[in-house]
Amino acid sequence: MKVAILGTGNMAEALIAGVLAKKILRPAQIIGFDVSRKRLNFIRKKYRIAASHSAIEAVEKADTILLSVKPRQMKELLDQIRPALSRRHLILSIAAGLDTRFFEKNLGRQYKIIRLMPNTPALVGLGATAYFANRNCGTSDRKRTQTIFSAVGIAFEVKKESLLDAVTGLSGSGPAFVYRFAEALQKGGIKAGLPRHLSQELAVQTVLGAATLLAESGEEPDALVKKVASKGGTTEAGLKFLQRKKFERIVQQCVVAATQRARQLRQ
Ligand SMILES: NC(=O)c1ccc[n+]([C@@H]2O[C@H](COP(=O)([O-])OP(=O)(O)OC[C@H]3O[C@@H](n4cnc5c(N)ncnc54)[C@H](OP(=O)(O)O)[C@@H]3O)[C@@H](O)[C@H]2O)c1
Repeated sequence: MKVAILGTGNMAEALIAGVLAKKILRPAQIIGFDVSRKRLNFIRKKYRIAASHSAIEAVEKADTILLSVKPRQMKELLDQIRPALSRRHLILSIAAGLDTRFFEKNLGRQYKIIRLMPNTPALVGLGATAYFANRNCGTSDRKRTQTIFSAVGIAFEVKKESLLDAVTGLSGSGPAFVYRFAEALQKGGIKAGLPRHLSQELAVQTVLGAATLLAESGEEPDALVKKVASKGGTTEAGLKFLQRKKFERIVQQCVVAATQRARQLRQ
C-alpha cells in the first residue's frame, strides 16, 4: 500500500502518527503534499515520510489517496489530480459535508470513493469514524480503510450514506457538546465554592474517568448511574434537577439539530 496524503493539516497528522505508531504503514509508504511548504516540511521531517512537489505527482506514486483539505479547497484539488486518477486508486475523503455524489460529479462515476467522518479525538488515538463506500469499492478497499482509520480509534461502515449526517451530529460534533458539559461542571464547581484550577482538574478527570468506565465496563449508562446514586443522596438530588430541567431531552435534540444542519449543508 502507498498512500498519498493531500493536505497535511491536523486530521492528516493524526492519521500519519497513528498508522506509523501502530506500524500499519512505514514512513516510505506515505507521500504527503500540501500547498503550505512550511507545513509539509514540518510533517516530512517529524514523521520521515516522503514529500511530493505536486498533488499530481503524489497521486501517480500512490494506490490510495487521502483527501484531507478543507471542503472549500476540495474542488480546486480535484481539478489538479483528475488527469492522474485511474480506477486502481482508492480515494478517501474526510471533508465534512461533501458526499460521494460531489466527488462523482467532479471526477466521474468510475472511481472507488470512500467518504469518512472522523472526529478530533483521533488526535489522541481515540477517534470515532464512520464511512460510506460507493458501489465501485470492494472488500479489500473497505478493509484497507478500516485498517487505516482503526489506527486512530474505532471505525464503522454505514451502508446508507445519509446516515453520515447523523454520525456528524453525534460523534463529529459530539466532542464540542462534551466540552460544553465539562465546562459547565467546572463552572458549577466554582459556584459551589471550589478554586478554578481544582474545579477544572476535577471536571476533566470526571469526564475522562466516567467515559473510560462506561467504555471498559460494558455496562449501560443507566446501570452506572444507579451505581453512583443512592436513595436520598447527593447524586440523586443532582439527577432530579437534571430531570426537571429536561437535560436528556435537550441533549437528544442537540444531536438532532446538528444532524439536520449536516443534512442541509450536504444538500
Ligand atoms: N477537525 C475536525 O473535527 C474534522 C472532523 C472530521 C472531518 N474533518 C475534515 O478534515 C479535513 C481537514 O481538516 P483539518 O482540520 O486537518 O484542516 P487543516 O488543518 O486546515 O489542513 C488542511 C491542509 O491542506 C492544505 N491545502 C489546502 N489546499 C490544498 C491543496 N489544493 N492541495 C494540498 N493541500 C492543500 C492547507 O493549507 P492552507 O492552510 O495553506 O490552506 C492545510 O495545510 C476537512 O475537510 C474537515 O472537514 C475535520
